[in-house]
Amino acid sequence: MTLSTQSLPQRLLDYCVPVLETERLVLRAPRLADVKAIARLANDRRVAENTARIPYPYHVDDAEQFLAGANRQVGEATFVILREGELIGMCGVEPREGTAEIGYWIGVPHWNRGYATEAVRALIDHAFGDIEHDALQAGARVSNPVSRRVLEKCGFQWTGVGLYRIRAINSSAPLDRFRLDRGLWASLKAWGRVREMA
Ligand SMILES: CC(C)(COP(=O)(O)OP(=O)(O)OC[C@H]1O[C@@H](n2cnc3c(N)ncnc32)[C@H](O)[C@@H]1OP(=O)(O)O)[C@@H](O)C(=O)NCCC(=O)NCCS
Repeated sequence: MTLSTQSLPQRLLDYCVPVLETERLVLRAPRLADVKAIARLANDRRVAENTARIPYPYHVDDAEQFLAGANRQVGEATFVILREGELIGMCGVEPREGTAEIGYWIGVPHWNRGYATEAVRALIDHAFGDIEHDALQAGARVSNPVSRRVLEKCGFQWTGVGLYRIRAINSSAPLDRFRLDRGLWASLKAWGRVREMA
C-alpha cells in the first residue's frame, strides 16, 4: 500500500504503536530505558550480520540513534519483544517502495524456542489487520536457513534472490526475498480445524 497522507483515514494518522500480547510474548514500542538491553543483544555478529541495517560492533549510542528515528513514519510499527518482562529481541514493519518490509531479530541466548515465529505472526496480524498493508516483504541472507524457516512458517513465499547491502559486513550479500499478501494471510487465518464425523 502506498501511504500518501492525503488518502489515509484519520484512524491511521492517529495511529500509535500498541502493545501486542501473544501466548508467551509482549510486543511494545521501544523506550529509551531499553537501549542497554538492545545493545547487549544486538552487539553480536550472528545477529548483526544477518540483518541489513544493524552495524557491528553495536553500542548503546547506536541503539539511541535507532530509537530516535523509530516509529516516525505512517505505516511503520517497531516493537521490542519481551518474554516475562525481559527484552529478547525486536521486530517491525515499515513502508518501503510501495509495499511494506518486515524485519526481526532475537538475541542469541533465546534462539530456537519459537519466539521469532510467535512475534512475527503477531507483527503480521497487526500489519494486515490494523495498519492495513496490502502486502509484506522480507529478506533473509541465503546463508540463513533459520530466518527462511521463520518466514515460511509465517506463510511467506519465496520470490527471488537479490544483492543487498549488509551494514555489519560493509558489503553486499545475496538475500532470498519473500512476500506475503493479504489474501494468502486471510486464507491461512481462516483455515480451521477439520472434525472427523464418522
Ligand atoms: C532468525 C531468528 C530471528 C530466528 O529466531 P528464533 O526465535 O530462533 O526462531 P524460531 O525458534 O521461531 O524458529 C526457528 C526455526 O528454524 C529451525 N532451524 C534451526 N536451525 C536450523 C537450520 N540450521 N536449518 C534450518 N532450520 C533451522 C528451527 O527448527 C525452527 O523451525 P521449526 O519450528 O520448524 O522447528 C534468529 O536466529 C536471529 O535473530 N538471527 C539473526 C538476525 C536475523 O536473521 N534476522 C532475520 C532477518 S531480518
